[in-house]
Amino acid sequence: MSVELNSDIDNIEHTNNLQPLLEAVDISHNFDYPLFKNINLNIYESQSIAIIGSSGCGKSTLLNILSTLLKPLDGDVLFNKKSIYSLKNDDILKIRREYFGIIFQAHYLFRGFNAKENLEISSILNDTVVDEELLKLLHIDFVMNQNIGTLSGGQQQRLSIARILTKKPKIIFADEPTGNLDKETAKIVFDSLFKYIHLVNGAMVLVTHEMDLAFRCDRVFEIKNQRLEQIK
Ligand SMILES: Nc1ncnc2c1ncn2[C@@H]1O[C@H](COP(=O)(O)OP(=O)(O)O)[C@@H](O)[C@H]1O
Ligand SMILES: [Mg+2]
Repeated sequence: MSVELNSDIDNIEHTNNLQPLLEAVDISHNFDYPLFKNINLNIYESQSIAIIGSSGCGKSTLLNILSTLLKPLDGDVLFNKKSIYSLKNDDILKIRREYFGIIFQAHYLFRGFNAKENLEISSILNDTVVDEELLKLLHIDFVMNQNIGTLSGGQQQRLSIARILTKKPKIIFADEPTGNLDKETAKIVFDSLFKYIHLVNGAMVLVTHEMDLAFRCDRVFEIKNQRLEQIK
């Protein structure tokens, strides 16, 4: 059975007592029809994972479940060995705010403020500093004084990613983060996300339909026939 195979592969790959940051244990979910059953997945430090699959197969749903946004109908998600969805709402929010960075395709920036101010909102809320290196990495260091409305779509997306990384999340969850970007900009975004997770010993779970991007991740899984199959 593919589920058992996946967890076996996990065990073989990580025998040197490496503890998973995040564990999905026997996750099942359905809306009007069953999406997936008994999904098991371990996510380790400094690792990136891609989730692919046909449209409507449940990729976003699985990402939401992994990232505190949606309680699965069955199964459990453990962060640092703690069961996320058994926690009180405030504690779930705390994990999401302090440790998780969730990147969506649509970005939510504050209009009427300039780029720098949008980043400062995050640095003040999270008691961190805006990292100049990060801005250079994302090629947006030179637009800091521009109003949001004057930035290109790609610059806005990179600014929203910079804002998420400014809070120094441990795990990045990204749902088709480069869907709206041209190839070159998408590459800049990905290079910086990979650099970031190695820099902070973090992890990334990426949902994408772009195979070349998926295969840059350490492991690739496909949701197929309601199961999670490892294909890399
Ligand atoms: N909140 C919801 N309520 C009802 N149905 C939903 C909800 N979210 C997603 N779905 C349905 O679940 C299925 C999987 O959605 P989704 O996880 O977004 O797939 P994917 O990201 O792989 O395209 C779709 O048929 C979608 O319409
Ligand atoms: Mg989706």
